This record gives sequence, C-alpha cells and structure tokens, in this order.
Amino acid sequence: QKGGYDTFMQKEMHEQPYVIKETLRAHIENNLAMPELSGLDVSKINQIYYVACGTAYHASLYAQYLLRTWIDLPIYCISASEFRYGNYRIDENTLCIFVSQSGETADTLAALKLSKENKAQTLSVTNVLGSSLARLSDYVLYTCAGPEIAVASTKAYTTQLVLLACLCLKLASLFNKGVVCKNHMINQLKQMPDAVEQMLAQEEKMAEFAKLLTNQKDAYFIGRQLDYLSVLEGALKLKEVSYVHADAYMAGELKHGPIALIEKDTVVIALATQPSVAQKTISNILETAARGAKVILIASQSQNTEGFEYVIRIPDVDPLLSCIPATVLLQELAYYVAKEKGCDVDKPRNLAKSVTVE
Ligand code: F6R
Repeated sequence: QKGGYDTFMQKEMHEQPYVIKETLRAHIENNLAMPELSGLDVSKINQIYYVACGTAYHASLYAQYLLRTWIDLPIYCISASEFRYGNYRIDENTLCIFVSQSGETADTLAALKLSKENKAQTLSVTNVLGSSLARLSDYVLYTCAGPEIAVASTKAYTTQLVLLACLCLKLASLFNKGVVCKNHMINQLKQMPDAVEQMLAQEEKMAEFAKLLTNQKDAYFIGRQLDYLSVLEGALKLKEVSYVHADAYMAGELKHGPIALIEKDTVVIALATQPSVAQKTISNILETAARGAKVILIASQSQNTEGFEYVIRIPDVDPLLSCIPATVLLQELAYYVAKEKGCDVDKPRNLAKSVTVE
C-alpha cells in the first residue's frame, strides 16, 4: 500500500513529479484551452476572491500573487472561516474561486453557498470528483493528485500550485486578451516535474538539516514576497507533523518585534529565491545569525550564500515558480524532523484529513 515507503506522507511526496505532470497534462493542452471554463463570461467581472482553508489557503495566496502580477483588478484572498463572517462585498460582478483538496471542508462549502446567494460566479479547484464543492460550483477544475492518505497535505498542495498557475494564466489571457509571458510560463511549468524530482534527490541533505531541529521547541521561517508565502506553508507543515512550534514571518517584519525571540542556537529557516528581494532577505538573515541563530538557507542557483553553513539550492526556474521546488524541500524538512522525533507523520494528533465541521 505504501509502495515500499515508510509512510504515506513519504510516498505522496515522491509521487509529486508524476501527479504534477498529470495535472499539467490535463490543463495546458491546446494552449490552455481549458474547455471546463468555456461558459465563463469575464466581461462584467470587476473583482476576484480566492477562498480556502489551511494549506489550500496558502495555495490561494500564491494564486492571488500571480493574478495581481498579471491583471489589473482587485484580487482578494480570504480564509473561508473569515470570509463567512466578514461582510465582504460579493455581487454578480464577482468571481469567487474556492480551493479545497477534499471539496468537503465545512467553512469552504459555507463560503461557496454564501457567494452563490450573493449571485457571484463560482469556480472550484478540488481533487475529488463529485465532491460537494464540485457539485455546487458553476465551474470546476480538478487537480490530479490521486488519493491523499497522509493527513498533512503534500502532493495535493503542489498540484494546486501548478493548476492555479495555469488558471491564473488562463484568466490573465481572458482579461487582457493575451499575456506576454504565457508561452514562457507554460514552458517553465513543464520543467516542474523535473525540478521537483531534483529536490526529492536532496532528501538526505534535508534529513541532515532536520537534525538541527529535533531538540528545538521553536523554529522561525522567513521570506519576502513569494518566499513569504512558501514559508507560511513550511511552518504549517513543520508544526503539524513534528509538533515543533513554528512561525513564519515576512523578513522585513523581523526587526519590528520577532527578532526579540532570536537567541543562540535558535533555528531560522530562510528562503531567498526571489531575485528582486533576495539580498534584502540575506541582510535580515545576517541579523539573526549575528544573534547566534543557526540558519538553514534555501536559495536560487545564482544567489551568493557566502558565510552560510546549511545551504540548499533550488533549480534554475522562473522565480514565479520557485515556490514549487522550494516547497518540496520544506516538506522533507518537516518530515524528517517528525521521523527523528518518532512522531506518527501520517496521523498527527488532533487533526483530521477532512474538516467537515466548523
Ligand atoms: C494541512 C492540511 C489542511 C488542509 C485544510 C483544508 O496539511 O492538509 O490545512 O489544507 O484542512 O482542506 P481541504 O483542502 O480539503 O479543503
């Protein structure tokens, strides 16, 4: 059942190159034709909401970032449990996009129903055929992750990232009548299975780095821009499977408070994959190192990382997609900390795979 792996989580991490390829195959054909969206009329849409929970919310933050880069409309991303009670202005000119692996999460479903009552157009991204979310939405796109057994999401998340990247490109071309970078991005997306494969081959190195965390109570993740979104997911993964308390901070916010937490041997996990801000993140990391932090640094190929001991690099990919390989490294880190501590990685305490109650 576990295909020779120790746990479902490890098996599912290793399935990522394949399921990413399948998800891409299902959606980029014919220059992103996406026939599932053929009835979608974007002419009156003047705002877009992404709504989701947990890991799917992190994938939605990524989609919000991409779409904001490519189209000139207000784009929001709200946790479903907040959206329900938050007096958001939803109307017939709103497109609401729901992201959910299971398609059964109570808050996400309630948010969908609320959006429909307010006459919004609704589109869901889910992994489960015929799920409640799929049945109730105007439009549905499926990730091709296959069944995910481990409670902590891995392959469902990375397939959401690639599918949402495709969807954002599609929406950008519908709204803008042609996105300049579309062909380049499609080509880059096709590199993702290989990029992820390369990260899986670094498993042993991440297992070594994980030892820095096994006796720690806390870990701090930092990044800027898209790297910040990746560290949100990295921190969630670490806390849910290894029970190490983990916080994610925007690197620029450190000096506004969190740096008070840094002392000798505190572990900081930093991402510097975004060329426009990487150097600023490096300066922030140096500030933590100066206070005795041990830094695990995930960086792009060309980033100067002189002076750092625990460095791992992602392949050369467009910075808008570097979160995909980077995420795999963060999954491995969480996994090996949990294994080293003897935690039940597939069934972390207090968590359920599908959260069908509020
Ligand atoms: C974390 C995790 C959860 C889910 C969340 C939403 O690893 O899996 O945070 O992402 O409960 O679940 P879905 O995507 O089924 O709506």
